[in-house]
Amino acid sequence: MVTESQGTALFDREAWKALTAHHEELEGKQLKELFAADPARGTRYTAEAAGLFLDYSKNRVDDTTLKLLMQLAEECGLKDKIEAMFRGDKINVTEGRAVLHVALRAPRGESIVVDGQDVVPEVHQVLDKMSGFADKVRSGEWKGFTGKRIKNVVNIGIGGSDLGPVMAYEALRHYSDREKTFRFVSNVDGTDFVEAVRDLNADETLFLVASKTFTTQETMTNAHSAREWALATLKDDAAIAKHFVAISTNAKEVAKFGIDTENMFGFWDWVGGRYSMDSAIGLSTMLAIGPDQFREMLAGFHAMDVHFRTTPFAQNLPVLLGLLTVWYTDFFDAQTMAILPYEQYLKRFPAYLQQLTMESNGKHVTLEGAHVSTETGPIYWGEPGTNGQHSFYQLIHQGTRLIPCDFIGFFKSLNPLGRHHDMLMANVFAQAEALAFGKTAEQVKAEGTADWLVPHRVFEGNRPSNVILAEELTPKLLGTLVALYEHSVFTQGAIWNIDSFDQWGVELGKVLATRILGELEGDAALTHDTSTNALIERYRKNK
Ligand code: F6P
Repeated sequence: MVTESQGTALFDREAWKALTAHHEELEGKQLKELFAADPARGTRYTAEAAGLFLDYSKNRVDDTTLKLLMQLAEECGLKDKIEAMFRGDKINVTEGRAVLHVALRAPRGESIVVDGQDVVPEVHQVLDKMSGFADKVRSGEWKGFTGKRIKNVVNIGIGGSDLGPVMAYEALRHYSDREKTFRFVSNVDGTDFVEAVRDLNADETLFLVASKTFTTQETMTNAHSAREWALATLKDDAAIAKHFVAISTNAKEVAKFGIDTENMFGFWDWVGGRYSMDSAIGLSTMLAIGPDQFREMLAGFHAMDVHFRTTPFAQNLPVLLGLLTVWYTDFFDAQTMAILPYEQYLKRFPAYLQQLTMESNGKHVTLEGAHVSTETGPIYWGEPGTNGQHSFYQLIHQGTRLIPCDFIGFFKSLNPLGRHHDMLMANVFAQAEALAFGKTAEQVKAEGTADWLVPHRVFEGNRPSNVILAEELTPKLLGTLVALYEHSVFTQGAIWNIDSFDQWGVELGKVLATRILGELEGDAALTHDTSTNALIERYRKNK
């Protein structure tokens, strides 16, 4: 494969070369020294927008780093790339598509034209249709086939048609209709479906079949099983119309499945699966929290969109986060980023971000098809605090790898309980402080530690983190937070010059699995490698 050509490759950019030289100087510096050199650092290296406050002072950067990172963003055409996205240009080049999740939250009256068509009115038509439906289900006006009220909602989808909805449901549970049960089925492992419905009555259950393509094997298999399960009780095909709705871009396949397209909520090819939780894919969210609060969530997304598009890079939250990610990935060889929400309701947020970040930036070729000359998308992972502290934080504090962390915390708890919230937040600030400043051998010795034990108890520090704070987790704030990471991912992709909006890497496994499925169910001769052949043979014998 061709590699990026000399002269235009990322590593040939002036800012990149300057950053490489600058990194050599800065690498040996401790955060402790950087803080000592600038008494205002802790308040200066902060930015605030749309209800989010970012303290990025505990990063291994100084003014020169930031200046050069901004210069890099300029040289890579970030500003133009942002405009191209908002304008509806086909920036998903390998699929020839516009990338317009920002249109999903554009207020009524705005205009974004794709292929000669203003898409904003269509977005609002779908939102209105979703709202009408959600109101009916929530009020009980929408009845099941036997005349009973819908008590259970089961979303069937996978990837972006699952991770966003389940994350948002968990995140906004506090605001949700507690009379209803919400379940999410994604895995083709039958256990997922069986366990999700085992205590539900079919005549009170509504299935949302969420699939952009309506051809995804896992989702279609689960949807067919759901239909059989429902019909086993309801015993009449006419019941499907009352218990199944579809969320898709593919009306033909929806009709083929047997769902009336009247009961279909559409979206468009310019919405990527992992960018779709604020489209009709969010119907489960709307059913849980109601149309008004769903629109609040969209307003939160939009506020961050406006900030991203209009704010100078130096104060631009997603740009700062994105550039810091590039800094650590490419100059410090950081392979992973930890996302650590100190908010129990955000327990699925790291899992959601895994698809958003890794399906977007897990790419090894540039937009021009050359092999990239630098590392690209890091691995994202995380767990809600404080649980992680009693599990993997040991490695972050004293291991040999550099793992930049994002701590996310709130001033107010949605469930104030004694001292719990202060204790929770004390841990956010303590962890970020400990990572940055550590504990020296002298300090450890001064505590009376035996000499032999001292090295084990030293914290080297100099481990970077961001602290993101907000008032309280609301639907609006959730939208803002998700958009922050969407645009951080965009910023990274713009620097790496990759297509953050395709996902060809998921195809090969799908094709092979389809072929192997036939082989598992038959006895055809096997023509794979010797390992795969032997595994299939073993399974055939033992299944
Ligand atoms: O396999 C990856 C993927 O294409 C994701 O990008 C997408 O979110 C998921 O599958 C589900 O796709 P669909 O919504 O079309 O079922």
